[in-house]
Amino acid sequence: MDFSSGSSASLYTRKVPFVLGGLPLEFGLAKEHRLLRQMVAEFADGKVAPKAHEYDEAEEFPKDLVEMMYGLGLMGMMVPEAYGGGGMDTIGYCIAMEEINRADASLGTIMSVNNSLVCDPILRYGTEEQKEELLPKLAQDGWLGAYALTEPWSGSDAGAMRSTARLGGDEWVLNGQKIFVTNAWHSQIIISYAKTDPKAPRSKGITAFIIPTDTPGLHKIRKEKKMGIRATDTTALAFEECRIPKENLLGKVDEGFKVALSTLDGGRIGIASQALGIARAAYEASLQYAQEREQFGQTIGQFQAIQWKLADMATEVDAARLLIYSAAYVRDSGRRYTKEAAIAKLFASDLAVRASREAVQIYGGYGYLRDFPVERLYRDAKITEIYEGTSEIQRVVIARQLLREDR
Ligand code: CAA
Repeated sequence: MDFSSGSSASLYTRKVPFVLGGLPLEFGLAKEHRLLRQMVAEFADGKVAPKAHEYDEAEEFPKDLVEMMYGLGLMGMMVPEAYGGGGMDTIGYCIAMEEINRADASLGTIMSVNNSLVCDPILRYGTEEQKEELLPKLAQDGWLGAYALTEPWSGSDAGAMRSTARLGGDEWVLNGQKIFVTNAWHSQIIISYAKTDPKAPRSKGITAFIIPTDTPGLHKIRKEKKMGIRATDTTALAFEECRIPKENLLGKVDEGFKVALSTLDGGRIGIASQALGIARAAYEASLQYAQEREQFGQTIGQFQAIQWKLADMATEVDAARLLIYSAAYVRDSGRRYTKEAAIAKLFASDLAVRASREAVQIYGGYGYLRDFPVERLYRDAKITEIYEGTSEIQRVVIARQLLREDR
């Protein structure tokens, strides 16, 4: 694909590369990671960034960009090549997420759900038949997936869900409601969760299901109006005697809560990378503006008040990236990474909000206008502190893991 029409202002074509303690920040990364970053950065700068504002204003799903993402192998990056995926490791996925999200967090959200919340659990919990049937479609053939966990009465307390599924002959019969389901309006399949043992306490007796969205009894009720990531669809769903084949289980009966939470571990590394992309965009926009905007006879970058903001942003962007790579490294080495993923998301999402707020402050009155990109960054950043587990829940997860590790 030729993206030569776009400017390639990527991190790695800058005259002054980011460094950390005298080492290039990409120490330890393989050549394939650097090439991947370059390819995704060119796509982000050339195709995504020029349209991000337009899609946000129109609150329109970026269909053409999503289609291009399939062509570039960005929708099923960690799916093995045998199932039509990119065969990448988690660090590669994080690199791509950072680059896409610094251009457009809406597109990044669509990408993260398909990769982290749909392809990943099918790969880890699916039967061979499910993998062979679904993964090539999701990774390369334009199928979009969604992940439905939250209900009107169960958000952070996901285990308190009330949706039910009962066996009726050769079918599961689903009833209930799900909300805040990213991608559901445009998706072909939804991974959803329901109580299969109503008597089991709390998170016990929950099962994960793969539900084709054209199944009778599955209703897409409404698209929510949101503060940010406005080019994504966030859909409310209802299941009304919705019948799916018995074999559409994901994993084992009554063991769905582990599917849900282990999937969110991976999702949280993705959202941390999204937050990093937003923070980096805020930092780069601020750095540029501080060198252009003049007040009191000098560029505002000459003022220490602005310099300190830039210094803090640069420091924290580097720190977030290292936390993300560390979580990705633990994941790729096959160990449990629940704590590392939560730490990365907690830190990076907090940074995304702080850095984008400071970017608006540096831009002053212009930063408050919808014509300038930092306004969108500020709105988009906020969701990273909320979805796939609020910052408060990340602290719960981290603390539980610390205590479990008996430190
Ligand atoms: N991996 C695998 N298993 C896990 C796990 C993990 N990361 N975390 C917990 N479990 C297991 C536990 O071992 C336990 O199993 P046993 O009963 O066999 O011991 C079981 O799951 C229940 O665990 P807890 O007792 O810790 O459960 P809890 O009810 O106290 O809840 C929680 C824990 C951390 C608060 C969890 O509910 C949580 O993460 N809540 C936030 C939910 C969330 O992130 N929602 C976002 C929805 S997705 C989204 O944002 C929409 C979108 O489209 C992007």
